[in-house]
Amino acid sequence: MSERTLFIIKPDAVSRGLIGQIIQRFESKGFTIINLKMLQFNRELATKFYNVHKEKPFFEELVSFITSGPAVAAIIEGDHAIDATRLMIGSTRSYEAQPGSVRGDFGLGISANIIHASDSLESFKYESGVVFS
Ligand code: CMP
Repeated sequence: MSERTLFIIKPDAVSRGLIGQIIQRFESKGFTIINLKMLQFNRELATKFYNVHKEKPFFEELVSFITSGPAVAAIIEGDHAIDATRLMIGSTRSYEAQPGSVRGDFGLGISANIIHASDSLESFKYESGVVFS
C-alpha cells in the first residue's frame, strides 16, 4: 500500500552536515522523494507545526530548538511509508533509540533529536500542509 509521509531534518542534523546521509537512507530503503526543501522555522510556523504539543511542558524548548537554524523538509512515497519511516527514525529520546535508526546512529538528545516524522496519515496531511503551502 503506497502512501506518503513527511520528515523534517532538524537544525542539529543540518548544522552537523548530516542532510545527505539521512536522505540517502530513505532513498536506499526504496522511497521516492516527492518534495524537498530547506526552510527556517519562525515562531509562528513552529507553533502551527507543533500545535498538538502546545500544552506540553516542553513546548517552549521545542519551539526554541526548531527555530534555532535551518531545517530540511521532505515528502516521500512508498509502501507503508508512515510506519516504515517511524521505525527508521527510532525512539524520540535519541539516547534510547535503537542502533541502526537515524536517531540511534546520529544523536543523543530529546529536543535535539535529529529528525521528525509524521506519526499518522492525519498528522502527515496537517504537517505537510503547514510546511509545503
Ligand atoms: P518530534 O518527533 O519532533 O515531536 C515532538 C518533539 O518534542 C520530539 O520530537 C522532541 O524533539 C520534543 N521534545 C522535547 N522534550 C520532550 C519530552 N520531554 N518528551 C517528548 N518530546 C520532547
